[in-house]
Amino acid sequence: MTILYSLKQAFYSFTNEHPQRIYFSPGRVNLIGEHTDYNNGYVFPAALEMGTYLAVSFRNDEMIYMQSANFQTTYQYSIDNLTYSAKDDWSNYPKGVLYEYQQLGYRLPGMNLYFFGDLPNGAGLSSSASIEMVTAFFLNDALQSTLNRTTLAQLCQRVENHYIGVNSGIMDQYAVGLGKEAHALFIDTNTLHHELVPLELGEYALVLTNSNKKRGLADSKYNERRAECEQGLKLLQNTGYQLESLSDLTVEEWQKARATIQHPVLEKRINHIVTENHRVKLAVKHLKAHDIHRFGHYMCESHHSLAEDYEVTGAELDLLYAIQKDQRGCIGTRMTGAGFGGCTVSLVHQEYIDQFKENVAKQYHQHTKIQPDFYTSLAGDGVKKIYEGGL
Ligand code: GLA
Repeated sequence: MTILYSLKQAFYSFTNEHPQRIYFSPGRVNLIGEHTDYNNGYVFPAALEMGTYLAVSFRNDEMIYMQSANFQTTYQYSIDNLTYSAKDDWSNYPKGVLYEYQQLGYRLPGMNLYFFGDLPNGAGLSSSASIEMVTAFFLNDALQSTLNRTTLAQLCQRVENHYIGVNSGIMDQYAVGLGKEAHALFIDTNTLHHELVPLELGEYALVLTNSNKKRGLADSKYNERRAECEQGLKLLQNTGYQLESLSDLTVEEWQKARATIQHPVLEKRINHIVTENHRVKLAVKHLKAHDIHRFGHYMCESHHSLAEDYEVTGAELDLLYAIQKDQRGCIGTRMTGAGFGGCTVSLVHQEYIDQFKENVAKQYHQHTKIQPDFYTSLAGDGVKKIYEGGL
C-alpha cells in the first residue's frame, strides 16, 4: 500500500471526502554547526526523507479542522480565533502558521487538515519545523501568495519565537524548506544565503541514533543559552569590540579578546560559538575535497565543544558519543539539534552499520535501560506538493 493511498483513506475517514491536495515536508539532521544560527553563524544541515504529510480539503464554512494520525487527536477552530493555547498541544504549530498568515492580511478559507508524520517527535530532527513548513507551503500554494521559501522559513521562525515561545534560529525551517536530495546546505545565517554541497560520503553513510531520552527542559535551557550568548556579546561590545554578533569574531580575535571576559560561563559559551563556526567551514571544505575522515573528525570536535563549553549534551548523548566513537567503521559522531536529549548523527562505513547498531544498542541499554532507535534516512528534498486532485 503506498503512502498516498493510505493518506487518502485516512483523510476519507476523517472528513468523508477525498483530499484536494497532499504535501510533504521533511525533517532535518544537522551535520555540524550547532547553536550558531541564532548568532548569525554557519550551519550545515540536510533535509531528511522522513517528514510530515499534510492532506487538505477546503470547507464552505469558516472552520478549521485539524487531525493528527500520530497523536490521534482532532482540534477545531473558527478562523476568527487562532490564538495560542497550551491545551491545543501539537495543533499550535499549524495554528500558529495560519495565525501568521492572517497577520500578513490574508483571509483564510475554512479547511480540513490531516497530518501524518514518520519523524520521531522531540528527537531533535525538527518535527516542529516540518509541520510548520508543510502548513506554510500549503497556504502559500492555496492562497497564491508567492512567498519564496526563505520568506516561508522566516514566517515559521516567527511562529516558534512569538507564538510558541521558543527563541530558535532559522536553521530548521530553512533546511526543511530549501533542502535537496543527496545534498547538505552550507548556510550563512547572517546573509540567509546557502550553498548546496553534494553529500558524497563514498563508502560511508549517516546513521541517526535516537537516545529516546525525552528533552525535558529543552525549551527553557535553549532560551537560556540564547540569552547567555546575548550577554556575552554585550560584554565584548562594552570592552570596545565592534561586533554585531558573536559570529563576527575570528578564532584569532577571540584568542586575544578572551582574557577580557571575567565570566567563566560566558567565556565557554562564546568559545563554542567561535570555534564551531570555524569547524563548520573546515568540515565543509574537507567534505568538498572528499576527505570524509577529516569531516568526521570535526563532527567529534563539535560534540566535545557542545559537551564542555556549551553544556547541552547531557548524560545520554555523551554516553552514545563515547560508545559510538569507538565502534569499528565509525569515523565521526556527534549530537544533532538543540541537545538535552534527542539524536546523534554518525558517519559509519556501510559494511559495519549492522554491527554498529547492534553494539551501540547493547551497550547503551546496559547503562541506561533505554532501547535506542536507529534511522538511516538519506538526504531528501525540501517541502513539496505530492498530489493535486480536483478542486
Ligand atoms: C534547534 C533550533 C535551531 C538551532 C538548533 C541548535 O533545532 O530550532 O534553530 O538553534 O536547535 O543548533
